[in-house]
Order: sequence, then C-alpha cells, then structure tokens
Amino acid sequence: MRIRLASILLSSCITGALASHSSSGSDGKSNGKPNSKTPPASTAEPCICKEYSQIAAAVANCTDIVLSNIAAPNGSSINLSGLKTGTTVTFEGLTTFGWVNSSSFNPITISGEGITITAKKGAVIDGNGQAYWDGLGSNGGLPKPDHFIVVDKVTGNSVIEKLYIRNWPVHLFDITGCENVVFQDMTLNNAAGDAPNSRSNGLAAAHNSDGFDVSSSYNITIRRNFVHNQDDCVAITSGNNMTVSGMTCEGSHGLSIGSIGGKSNNNVTNIHFADSLLINTQAGARIKTNYNYTGFISNITYENIVLQNITQYGIDIQQDYLNGGPTGIPSNGVIIENVLMKKINGYVASDAQPYYILCGDGSCSNIVFEDVKVTGGEASSCNYKVSGCPVSS
Ligand SMILES: *[C@@H]1O[C@H](CO)[C@@H](O)[C@H](O)[C@H]1NC(C)=O
Ligand SMILES: *[C@@H]1O[C@H](CO)[C@@H](O)[C@H](O)[C@H]1NC(C)=O
Ligand SMILES: *[C@@H]1O[C@H](CO)[C@@H](O)[C@H](O)[C@H]1NC(C)=O
Ligand SMILES: *[C@@H]1O[C@H](CO)[C@@H](O)[C@H](O)[C@H]1NC(C)=O
Ligand SMILES: *[C@@H]1O[C@H](CO)[C@@H](O)[C@H](O)[C@H]1NC(C)=O
Ligand SMILES: *[C@@H]1O[C@H](CO)[C@@H](O)[C@H](O)[C@H]1NC(C)=O
Ligand SMILES: *[C@@H]1O[C@H](CO)[C@@H](O)[C@H](O)[C@H]1NC(C)=O
Ligand SMILES: *[C@@H]1O[C@H](CO)[C@@H](O)[C@H](O)[C@H]1NC(C)=O
Ligand SMILES: *[C@@H]1O[C@H](CO)[C@@H](O)[C@H](O)[C@H]1NC(C)=O
Ligand SMILES: *[C@@H]1O[C@H](CO)[C@@H](O)[C@H](O)[C@H]1NC(C)=O
Repeated sequence: MRIRLASILLSSCITGALASHSSSGSDGKSNGKPNSKTPPASTAEPCICKEYSQIAAAVANCTDIVLSNIAAPNGSSINLSGLKTGTTVTFEGLTTFGWVNSSSFNPITISGEGITITAKKGAVIDGNGQAYWDGLGSNGGLPKPDHFIVVDKVTGNSVIEKLYIRNWPVHLFDITGCENVVFQDMTLNNAAGDAPNSRSNGLAAAHNSDGFDVSSSYNITIRRNFVHNQDDCVAITSGNNMTVSGMTCEGSHGLSIGSIGGKSNNNVTNIHFADSLLINTQAGARIKTNYNYTGFISNITYENIVLQNITQYGIDIQQDYLNGGPTGIPSNGVIIENVLMKKINGYVASDAQPYYILCGDGSCSNIVFEDVKVTGGEASSCNYKVSGCPVSS
C-alpha cells in the first residue's frame, strides 16, 4: 500500500489527503506541502501542483487545488474545465505560458458549479503577450490566442477573484453562458502593451485587449477591479441582470454595451454600471450597435461614474457600426430603451466630445440624463431630440 501510494505521489500533485491518510509515522514529505498541520480528517487538504503535468489529475480528483509556479509549455493550456462542484483553485507564485501558433487556442479555460478561482498574495499570471503583440490584435497579423481566459458555463455562486494578470495576448476574459458568478478584486495590467514594438508600426503593441467580455450570461457581478488595457474595459454583448461597479479603468475604451447586432444573441437587459473611475480612456459610458442588424437593449444604467481625460466621447451612444468601425450613418434595427445616465462627472481631452449620440430613426427611447456634467473638449453632438445633449460647461 505504502509503495503504491508513493509512486502515485511522484507523478501527481495529490499530496495532502492521500499522503496523510497513508503515512502516519512517515516523514510527511509531500511535494513541498507544508507539513506542520495535523493530518486532515477528510480530503479537504489541498492538492499542490508544482508541475504543469500534475494539473489534469488534480482537476479530476481534488476539490482544493493550488497551482504553484506553473509554467505551461508551448501549446499547452491550463484546463480547469472539469472541476468538481465546489472546487477552489488557488494560483500561487508566477504562472507563465509558452507560445502557440493559433488564434483559437485558449490558454486558460474554466467551467464548473460553485467554484472559486483565487490567488495568493503576490501571485502573477503572465500571458506572454510580448510573444504575440503586433499592433493588430484579432484584426490580422500573426495568429495569437484570441481569448486568454474562457469562462464557460460557470454557475452556482462561483467566484473568480484576486488574480493579478499581465501581458495577455488579445482579449482577456471571455465570459459566456454563465449564471450567478462574481468577478472581483482583480488587477488586469496590460500597460506594457501601450508601447509600440518592432512589429507594430508605431501603434500600441497590444490591441483588442478587452478586460471583460460578457455574453449570454445572467446575474453576473463584476466589481472592484483595476484594468489597464487598450480596448474595452468591460464589454457586454448579451445577457441579463448584471452589475459592474467599483472599477478603475485606465487607457481603455471604457465601459461598453456592444457592439450589438449580428451575433447569436443580441439582447442586453438590466445592466447597472456604477461607482467607477475612467482615466485616459477613449470613451466613458458607451453603447454601440451594428448597422443594419437587429437587437434589443433595455434598462441600462450608468451611475456615479467619474471621467478623466476621455479622448473621444465622454458619453457615447451610436448606432452606426459596420465591420468594427463607425460610419456616421445610423440604422434603427437595434432598439435602445430605458437608458439612465446619472451622476456622471468629469472632463474630456481637448479634441474629444463630452457627449455623442447618434440614434437610428425612432430606435431610441427614454434616454435620461440626471446630474450629468462632462466638460472640456469640442462641441457635443446628440440627435436624440427628447433630451438633446446635457450641458457641458
Ligand atoms: C486521479 O488520481 C488517481 C490517483 O489517486 C490517478 O491514478 C488518476 O489517474 C487520477 N485521475 C485522473 C483522471 O487523472
Ligand atoms: C479540458 O478538460 C475537459 C474535461 O476535463 C475536456 O473535456 C476538454 O477536452 C479539455 N480541453 C482541452 C482543450 O484540452
Ligand atoms: C516554444 O516556442 C518558442 C517560440 O517559437 C521557441 O523559441 C521555443 O524553443 C519553444 N520551446 C520548446 C520547449 O519547444
Ligand atoms: C503559423 O501558422 C500560419 C498558418 O496559420 C503559418 O503560415 C505560419 O508559417 C506559422 N508560423 C510559424 C512560426 O509556425
Ligand atoms: C445572483 O448571484 C448571486 C451570487 O453571485 C446570488 O447570491 C444571488 O442570489 C443571485 N441572484 C439571483 C436573482 O439569482
Ligand atoms: C434579476 O432578474 C429577476 C427576474 O428577471 C429580478 O426579479 C431580479 O430583481 C433581478 N436581479 C437583479 C440583481 O437585477
Ligand atoms: C430578445 O428580446 C426580444 C424582445 O424582448 C424577445 O422577443 C426575444 O425573444 C429575445 N431573444 C433572446 C434570445 O432572448
Ligand atoms: C490623456 O490621455 C492621453 C491618451 O491616453 C494621453 O496621451 C495624455 O497624456 C493624457 N493627458 C493627461 C493630461 O493625462
Ligand atoms: C442595409 O439594409 C438595406 C435593406 O435591407 C439594404 O438595402 C442595404 O444595402 C444595407 N446596407 C448595408 C451597408 O449593408
Ligand atoms: C426594465 O425594468 C423594469 C423596471 O424594473 C421592468 O419592469 C422591466 O421588465 C425591465 N425590462 C426588461 C426588458 O427586462
């Protein structure tokens, strides 16, 4: 018995529970697990993975997993898709990724019910963005993993928190088909991608580096996160009942709904953005829809948002996107109703506009501004006649 378990221990990170059940009287060495604790009565002791190769067995067998200084080799993902219900995964130390010549490769995948993904203090997840960045993101250039972390069908009061993530290649969180999940207290730092590199022709090296992309999900909370990136801080493209609050977004494209239209789900309802600070972002509060498509956007509130040095539009609602860019010609197939902009204050850069609203013919209704004052920049432009533009000086 002792010999069989020992050989298992060598090849996996199933340390705590099995080791302590089997080895009272042994030296208690278990792949670096601190052995000062009393042996556990249950299998609640963590499985500590110190090698990439140990992760699959831990995911299949453990409910308390520590990923300690994992270096994922070229072409290898950290696959947390098969987590047992109620599992906690804790990142520790430096997690790194190799290289892969693919856009569809997902470096980290997460699925499960009632799970917690967290990190010890000082832990860093580094996406190896420098190996991919070429200023083009997912619009062209070299193949690069399009979604760094795919959070798919996570349910049951799950929590993803405290991760410090830097240098992701293109989009970061792709959150889809999820219900009752909280994303909190994370630092997402892609600041290194602001500078051009030898491949980016003078452009910021990182591109399309959205922080949180959310689709087809329900009851999602995103709170108290810091994001420094080069595209949307948060972008919600479909789903219902979400709160985004306590965000600090720097250098991004802001807090966005959209772009809506032409996707498998084009309904976005009951979304509350609150208590957030946007610094040097391209837009502040933004709703954009795609030209000639249909969709439904209802009950969107932006409340208590501070804007500093916004470089294009402080508050932006536009219905003229085509092939990823605005055309100036709106269409009315996506309904936008019940939008409340409340307590939004701050200033835009000198060549920006405080407000920009370009609705299609009859497709916007009940857009309300309350206690909104964005200053600076050039004249605003709002074609939503009921409210016009709020005052900006
Ligand atoms: C689960 O752990 C056992 C050892 O306890 C190992 O033999 C087995 O391969 C693991 N399962 C998977 C799917 O890795
Ligand atoms: C990830 O693991 C799940 C089950 O645990 C498996 O079904 C899936 O194929 C794996 N994905 C990859 C990309 O290896
Ligand atoms: C991983 O890929 C990089 C980039 O192509 C290459 O330089 C390196 O040698 C590869 N590592 C291994 C272990 O194959
Ligand atoms: C990466 O894949 C593309 C095809 O998608 C191929 O043209 C290119 O040569 C590959 N690059 C490397 C370094 O393997
Ligand atoms: C929403 O999710 C939270 C946990 O994230 C849960 O406590 C709450 O009950 C859920 N609310 C609804 C209406 O499902
Ligand atoms: C979520 O939706 C349900 C029903 O659609 C509603 O009763 C509830 O108040 C909503 N919760 C939140 C947090 O918006
Ligand atoms: C989207 O909303 C419309 C209008 O409320 C509704 O008819 C449609 O069923 C919804 N579609 C989805 C996929 O929820
Ligand atoms: C405003 O933001 C732009 C673009 O991010 C930046 O270049 C500029 O330095 C910022 N200005 C101030 C005063 O912070
Ligand atoms: C928009 O739709 C109309 C009506 O279907 C069509 O005539 C027009 O060509 C479309 N425009 C574009 C730019 O796709
Ligand atoms: C919008 O909010 C109102 C008031 O809370 C609610 O009655 C209505 O059902 C919501 N609309 C949608 C499409 O969820």
